[in-house]
Amino acid sequence: MRLFVLLTSITFLSICLTSCSKSKKSSESTSSTKEIPAGLFEYPENVLAIVDNKCMSCHNPDSKNDKAKDELIWQDLPTMKKPFLAKKLYGVQEVLEDGEMPPEKFLSKYPDKELTKEESEILYKWTEELLAQVN
Ligand code: HEC
Repeated sequence: MRLFVLLTSITFLSICLTSCSKSKKSSESTSSTKEIPAGLFEYPENVLAIVDNKCMSCHNPDSKNDKAKDELIWQDLPTMKKPFLAKKLYGVQEVLEDGEMPPEKFLSKYPDKELTKEESEILYKWTEELLAQVN
């Protein structure tokens, strides 16, 4: 009897373990937010960290914010044709210069998502360097 109980618990435990590890795997593959396709350039780590923290929630392929998605999807930039990429980069420069992003309404709810001056400069410098390669 004891053996039976032991065997049942072992079976149960191993089923648990396999299903847990499976669900972990599938959640990894569906989290597309950070998956950036290889292309013309790679985001430098410091740039990606800022974008991921402060811009990605609206500007990603799965975003529910259609207006934001229409304007900019960070994951698309590396595979864009150069003139289109350049246009997007100029757009980013504009919002950085004007301090337009993230939108004010969003910041009133999440004030910690505001770009610091330093972060804004890092992003701006990155757009300049990339524009120099693209143009
Ligand atoms: C809360 C959601 C949200 C976040 C976070 C956000 N954006 Fe936006 N973004 C928008 C929306 C919405 C638009 C479209 C605005 C419009 O059409 O008026 C937009 C538009 C833009 C545009 C195009 C602007 C234009 O007029 O050409 C750029 C570039 C941009 N965002 C960059 C950024 C950057 C850089 C960050 C991070 C610092 C960021 N966004 C964070 C929602 C967001």
